[in-house]
Amino acid sequence: MFSLKVPLYFLSLAGVIGSVSATSFNLYAYGDNVGGLPLYYSDGNAVVSPDTPSNATKAAPVAFMKDDNNGLVGNPNQTDTGADPAFTDESLFAPGPYSTDKRMGYTTNATSNEVTNKFVWYGHFVLIEDESGEFTSLYSVKKSSSHDQDGSYDLYWNVTDDEDVVPVTMRSIAPSNA
Ligand SMILES: *[C@@H]1O[C@H](CO)[C@@H](O)[C@H](O)[C@H]1NC(C)=O
Ligand SMILES: *[C@@H]1O[C@H](CO)[C@@H](O)[C@H](O)[C@H]1NC(C)=O
Ligand SMILES: *[C@@H]1O[C@H](CO)[C@@H](O)[C@H](O)[C@H]1NC(C)=O
Ligand SMILES: *[C@@H]1O[C@H](CO)[C@@H](O)[C@H](O)[C@H]1NC(C)=O
Repeated sequence: MFSLKVPLYFLSLAGVIGSVSATSFNLYAYGDNVGGLPLYYSDGNAVVSPDTPSNATKAAPVAFMKDDNNGLVGNPNQTDTGADPAFTDESLFAPGPYSTDKRMGYTTNATSNEVTNKFVWYGHFVLIEDESGEFTSLYSVKKSSSHDQDGSYDLYWNVTDDEDVVPVTMRSIAPSNA
């Protein structure tokens, strides 16, 4: 399983810890045949897709802001035409180490199985600090039930036993399609 582990001291030296951006951004998934698909809100689930996921009641591309607690707070990207303002200030979460559900999603009130305050940066890569303080990238995607209609994938964290997932990294820069 793909894993990106970077020693803490290196990141400290690089000066990327605690870097705060005032502008909003989206995240993009990069992996085999997944060339920087943007992250969407899809009925509370985290979905990467070429376009707005077709089989959701509430779906919109997300504009994230960093909060001062290593969280990523999302709102609909209002400048994207067609975005339904379906949610407000929802935090991206990854399932905790003891969660059986490995899907990522959005919440306003994280449960003990939803990690919202461990997002850390390595350049443009967003990583998650694990319980031992290591910075890890354990994202993967899997074709969603409506993949054949819209090309969307569900975003997972820390799946180790599924052949159908594609490991990805999550970055804050869009692919250049020039
Ligand atoms: C919002 O959507 C517009 C139009 O697609 C895009 O240019 C802009 O980069 C997006 N903003 C964010 C924060 O993703
Ligand atoms: C998704 O939407 C398409 C039509 O756009 C429909 O044919 C399909 O059955 C839907 N899939 C699910 C799982 O709801
Ligand atoms: C990944 O899952 C394993 C159990 O399968 C757990 O021990 C580990 O802490 C998890 N790592 C992260 C970073 O969530
Ligand atoms: C958050 O969830 C907890 C436990 O489910 C609940 O007791 C609390 O009222 C919720 N808080 C808000 C603001 O919804």
